[in-house]
Amino acid sequence: MKGIKKAVIPAAGYGTRFLPVTKAIPKEMFPIIDTPAIHLIVEEAINSGIDEIIIIVSANKNAIIDYFDRNFELEQNLLVKGKVDEYKLVTEIGSSVNVHFIRQKEQLGLGHAVLQAKTFMGNEPFALLLGDDVYVSSEDSALKQLVNQYSKCQSSIIGTMRVDLEDVSKFGICKTENDKQLSKILEVVEKPNKALAPSNLAIGGRYIFTHEIFDYLEKQEPGINGEIQLTDAIAKMLSTEKVYSYEINAKHYDIGSRIGYLEAIIDFGLNRPDMKEQIIKEITSWLLPSYVRLLHASP
Ligand code: G1P
Repeated sequence: MKGIKKAVIPAAGYGTRFLPVTKAIPKEMFPIIDTPAIHLIVEEAINSGIDEIIIIVSANKNAIIDYFDRNFELEQNLLVKGKVDEYKLVTEIGSSVNVHFIRQKEQLGLGHAVLQAKTFMGNEPFALLLGDDVYVSSEDSALKQLVNQYSKCQSSIIGTMRVDLEDVSKFGICKTENDKQLSKILEVVEKPNKALAPSNLAIGGRYIFTHEIFDYLEKQEPGINGEIQLTDAIAKMLSTEKVYSYEINAKHYDIGSRIGYLEAIIDFGLNRPDMKEQIIKEITSWLLPSYVRLLHASP
């Protein structure tokens, strides 16, 4: 039985939620302290057993291509100065996995971006990791949890998470057969309004697909926001294939939102022994007085 060895990471979007910075800097390159978000996502894929990654980029995303390439001048400079740790930091990620790139010529939506990976995937099942969703887990990584489930059910699996009802319109939302962690999906809808949402079980940016998804993506018409939506193709696939939801056990950060991004930076900092103490000191000294004022001001 063949495991999941290939992954696709779409990184071609405009990043409109984070303008103006995304005019020049891809949001996938936003640093979580000192490490770009896409580095963390590639690392998650490696830790889940992936050895070939294809990143879908658009015209102004060359920073991502440069990041996974060698930079001989910098490497030489670090070696000459005996900066061995820094040398490892800039070379390790590019050497532990094969990273390939495809340009999406028109930004027609997430479904269209994933479709660009069709030839690369052939008939193999594959993983999909979205760049806005960063996970931290003390046990198996988010994707590894799905890979483990795939080895049992051999069907497409979507990583999910419970969200506030107020937030359902920001996600793809699933209705499942039951409330178990692994459950068959009966219905899926992209960004429904609260009144129409079939549940609060949201798609969390990690997926495993059998190659059949490409048949549905090829036929998929534009949906919400005029974009070719991956969720719409999954909804069609439900009529012929079993697709499962698996509730991921990990802390999730939506780094495509300003607050989610800030939260990720603070939490990652708190988990770093070289920064933790100072962050607690600084943040407490800034925030405590404002928090007390806020408490006194509220009715
Ligand atoms: C995409 C998907 C959506 C999913 C979300 C997770 O939406 O279309 O179904 O719930 O990612 O982050 P986006 O955030 O790109 O608008």
